[in-house]
Amino acid sequence: MRTGVVCGPHDLHVAETPRLWIVSSRANDFARWMRQAAEDPGNRDEMTDEAVRGWMQVPLGPIADPVENTAEPDDMMPVDPHFLFFAGISRQTRHLVGNVSVFSRNQVSEIGGSMHRDYRRQGYGHEMLETVTTLAHRHFGLERLVAGSEPANTASQRWLAGSGFTPTTGPATVTLENGRTLRTLWSEHVDPGYELRCSRPRPVFRTRRRYAWRTQ
Ligand SMILES: CC(C)(COP(=O)(O)OP(=O)(O)OC[C@H]1O[C@@H](n2cnc3c(N)ncnc32)[C@H](O)[C@@H]1OP(=O)(O)O)[C@@H](O)C(=O)NCCC(=O)NCCS
Repeated sequence: MRTGVVCGPHDLHVAETPRLWIVSSRANDFARWMRQAAEDPGNRDEMTDEAVRGWMQVPLGPIADPVENTAEPDDMMPVDPHFLFFAGISRQTRHLVGNVSVFSRNQVSEIGGSMHRDYRRQGYGHEMLETVTTLAHRHFGLERLVAGSEPANTASQRWLAGSGFTPTTGPATVTLENGRTLRTLWSEHVDPGYELRCSRPRPVFRTRRRYAWRTQ
C-alpha cells in the first residue's frame, strides 16, 4: 500500500484513507481520545483515577477538517520518536473513531490501539492500523513494530494478523499501570525498506507536562 502523508508545520501529520483522516500529533485529539476512553465502561479497570480525572473536561463532538484547520504550535504534541499518537477521524462524521500509538523504548517499538465501540467491526481498525504501520516504517523510520495482546482477545489477534502482523516471541506477561498482570501473545511487523522521511522528529526524549499518560 502506498500511503501519502502531509508532514506539516508545527509537527502536524495528516494521512487520508478512503474513510479516515489519520492525524498526528494534535494534543486536542489525544485529549478527546483519553476522555472517550475514560467514559467507556469497558476501560474502567484499565485506567487509573489519575488518568481519568485529567481528561474529563475535554469537550467531545465533531472535529473540524484537520487539513483546513491547521493547528497552532501550542496545540501540538511535538513529534517524539519515543511516542507517536495517531487519531483516526471519520471524514464523513468528523468523529474520533480510534487511536493507534507507537511507544518505543530500549530499541523496541510497541504498537497498540483501540476503536470507538460504535465504529468496531466495520473495517476501520484495519484501515487505521495498516496506514499507521506504513507511516511508522516509511515516514518515521521504524524497522520493526511489535504488538501484544491477551490470548482471549480474538479481535486484537485478527486485527493484527489481518494487517500483516505475524507471531513472534516476547515477555509472557505484561503488568499494566494499575498493577494488573496479563498473559500476552506477541506479533511483529518488519519492513526492511524502512526509511526516516519525517523532517521533524526530535532526537531526545522531551519531558511531557500535559500528555503523560501513555498506555492503551
Ligand atoms: C481490536 C480492535 C482495535 C479492532 O477494531 P475494529 O475496527 O473492530 O477492526 P476491523 O473491523 O478492521 O476488524 C479487524 C479484524 O478483527 C475481527 N474482529 C473485530 N471485532 C471482533 C470481535 N469482537 N470478535 C472477533 N473478531 C473480531 C474482524 O472480523 C476482522 O477480522 P479479519 O481481518 O479476519 O476479517 C477493536 O476491537 C478494539 O478497539 N478492541 C479493544 C482494544 C483492543 O483490544 N486493542 C488491541 C490491543 S493490541
